[in-house]
This record gives sequence, C-alpha cells and structure tokens, in this order.
Amino acid sequence: MFKISVVGIGYVGLVAGVCFAEVGHQVTCVDIDEQRINMLKQGMSPIYEAGLDDLMQKNYAAGRLKFTTDYNKAYKEADAIFIGVGTPEQPDGSANLSYIATVARQIAETIEKDCLVVVKSTVPVGTNDKVEQFIHDFLTNDVRVEVASNPEFLAQGTAVRDTLEAARIIIGTDSKWAKEMLMKIYEPFNLPIVSVSRRSAEMIKYAANDFLALKISYMNDIANLCELVGADIQDVARGMSFDERIGSKFLNAGIGYGGSCFPKDTKALDYLARQNGYELRTVKAAITVNDDQKTILYRKAANRLITFDGLKVAVLGLTFKPETDDLREAPSLENVPLLLEQGARVYAYDPVGSDNFRLKYPESEYKINYVDKPEEALSGANVCFIFTEWEQIKAIKAETFQKLMRTPLVYDGRNIYPIQEMQDAGVEYYSIGRQAVENKDLKLSNIHNTSHRLHSA
Ligand code: UDX
Repeated sequence: MFKISVVGIGYVGLVAGVCFAEVGHQVTCVDIDEQRINMLKQGMSPIYEAGLDDLMQKNYAAGRLKFTTDYNKAYKEADAIFIGVGTPEQPDGSANLSYIATVARQIAETIEKDCLVVVKSTVPVGTNDKVEQFIHDFLTNDVRVEVASNPEFLAQGTAVRDTLEAARIIIGTDSKWAKEMLMKIYEPFNLPIVSVSRRSAEMIKYAANDFLALKISYMNDIANLCELVGADIQDVARGMSFDERIGSKFLNAGIGYGGSCFPKDTKALDYLARQNGYELRTVKAAITVNDDQKTILYRKAANRLITFDGLKVAVLGLTFKPETDDLREAPSLENVPLLLEQGARVYAYDPVGSDNFRLKYPESEYKINYVDKPEEALSGANVCFIFTEWEQIKAIKAETFQKLMRTPLVYDGRNIYPIQEMQDAGVEYYSIGRQAVENKDLKLSNIHNTSHRLHSA
C-alpha cells in the first residue's frame, strides 16, 4: 500500500482520493480552499455525486482518508502525488495551466524523498514533459521525481462506479520506475491497464472525449436532417445501434452536449491542432453543430411565437445532464437568458440545479422563479422547454401538459415523449429529429391573449 496525496479536491481529485482509500491506500487530500476541507472533514462532499458521501465517510472513519490544507506535510510524506486541479478553458480555447504550475512548484520546493507525480487533470499533449522539467528546475532537495500521465474517464453522476469499475486505466509513463509504481498503485483495482507513453496518454483523453462529442454532434446533425426528410432519429439510432461497430451508446440526439469535459476538450484539441499548423476539421464541425444545437428549439419557438414577451415559460431541467448539480455549458444557460431578454416570465424546475442557477439569475434581478415541482412551472404556462431528462421530468404524463398549461406547447430537447402520446393528449409538441405534432387549436391569438392577461395580473 502506498502513501498517496491528491491535490485539487474537485470532481477528479475527490473521487480519485476516495477510491484510492477504498482499495487500501493511505490517502491525504489537499486543497487550498479551507471551507471545502472543513466540509469534507465533517463528512460532507462539496459535489453532488451518487455514493460518494458514504464511501468518503467510511474511509475517513477507517483512517485511510485525510483532508488538509497543509500541502507541505502532505507532499513530504507522499510516495505519489496525484494532481487533479482544474485546467479551465481560456477565451482562445486553450487550457489554463497556471494551477498545475503552482502545484508543480510547491511540490518541487517541498519534497524530501523520491516521489512520483501523476497528472490526472486533462492537459494538452506535452504538458507532462513540461511539468517534469518545471519540477526539476525548482527542485530543492536531491531526490528522484518523475511525472506520469493518468487521465480519468469518469462521468458525473457515475463517477465512483466509473473509477472503481473503469473500463480501462490509462497510464502514460516514460520510465520503468514510474510505470512499475503506477501499476502497483492500481493493482488492487484489478482492472485492465493500458500502458503507453506520456504523450499518448495525454492524447487518449482528448481523442476519447472528442470522439464521443463527435458522435453526439453527428447524431444531432442527422437528427436535423431527419426532421427535414420525414425520418425519425430514434428509429434511425435504434437501427444503427445493432451494428457492433457503432454500438448503442451516445446515440441520443438532443439539445447539444454540455458539461465540464466535451465542450472544453473539443476546443482545446482544436486549439492544439491549430498551434501545430493543422486544422482538425472533424472536431471543429462537432463544435459548430453543438453551438447551433443548443438554441435550436428556442429558434423554432421564437419563429412560431414571434415574441415571448409576457408569456409564462416553464423550463424543466437546468443542469447539463441528470444526476448532477453542474451547470457548466448547460443548454439552459444559453436559452434562459434569451427567454428573459425577450420578456418571458420563466418558471424553472430542477431537482438539484436551481441553487446554482439562482446564483447567476437571482429572482430579485430577473423575471425568474424557481419552483419545487414541475407542476408549479407548468401551471398556467404558455410554453414549456425541456432541457434535462431528469426522472422527475420524465415522470410527467403527457396529459399533465394539456391539463396544467394554458396553452400546451412543448419543446422537448431530450426526446422524452413518444410522438403518439403527445398527439393523443392534444399537446403541440416539438422535439429533436422527429416529426412535429401540431395542434390546430393553438392559435397565436390564443397564446398571446393569455399573455395580456398575465401582463395585467
Ligand atoms: C464525459 C465523459 O463521458 C467522461 O468519460 C469524461 O471523463 C468527461 O466527460 P460527463 O461530462 O460527466 O462525462 O457526461 P456524459 O454523460 O458523457 O454527457 C456529456 C453530455 O453529452 C451531456 O450534456 C449529455 O446530455 C450529452 N449526451 C450524452 C447527449 O446529448 N447524447 C448522448 O447520447 C449522450
């Protein structure tokens, strides 16, 4: 068993730290954020992630997991230091490496024994080389220190399972010493290990994420064409999925991908390519398709309604996907401001994302209300947008839209409802890559008349 320090206790770091402790290592989690560390010491995870709190509390109680802001001590004692700090996207699409550089310098100036530094954060190809050089340049004591790449592939909401039951573990090392040590650290996980060079490991992370982003954008592109030619994207996807070379996962067309990885990693790889004098046309296309896809329903609705002024708009789902409170690059963040600008009164429902959304769009400054039940958002609404496929939202019956809304007009970015159900319920229904369900009774005069009533209310 090894003494492991993990620095940067966000999604990547915390999940890694907890899982290393779970397989028996002695883990110290380091972060500069005191509030976060205090929360963790009290057994509360600062992120919403299924199963994480329990596992964290269990390993903390067993003494295998510690939390501290004292990086000096944590680095001095460690056999290996895993870096999980953020690499946020900069305006030009490149990754900001300043947090990694700060940590690398602190490590160099602190460590007193041989130590393996492992970069878990997603970093541009070649960064591990630079980090190793950086550490050697600032090294205070005469010790052996090497840097290895170990990208993670966890998805939010299933992060613990994705780590403990990972499809594969990628280790990128350029020395036998580093490789053997990482292999030993990961031995208790009993999972397939793919050992490659550092640069290949760095590239695997981007290539894998961007491939998935491409797959989604491809389906969204085909979905848009399906609408034009009278095909149904869900049937098309089902038909494609039986081909093992294509597979059944990540074929869901929708309102565009969001989250902390795909948008950032597509732009970062595009940037890396440009820096190297190459144009990565496929990834660029995925980015463009996704940008357009996020507002496709808004544009359709704007076209149908002419204006949102005075309308009550129900927004169901704010987070970029279910089972997370994360709003990063969520379609809601593109659409809600557009609706507000147009004078809509937004009633938003999300099982966990409202608090984060409220920080950006407080009720005191915007015509927005956050409600506890989807029914409250739908009641008396003129239009409804569905942005996230939470179970609570999927559970809404087609008739409920007809019953509760003033004018049952629904724009579904997640293709939740069978077309026939909405048709039978008398809902005017637009989704992605499927035929529209029109409702002849839903005249503009109907929809906008109610808005006058709402205005004067
Ligand atoms: C992703 C990768 O899955 C993970 O391996 C990587 O380490 C980080 O990025 P995550 O961002 O948590 O994980 O979520 P994921 O479930 O992959 O979904 C990403 C986005 O794609 C979401 O906005 C989701 O709604 C969208 N998506 C996913 C689709 O639109 N269609 C699909 O078929 C699948």
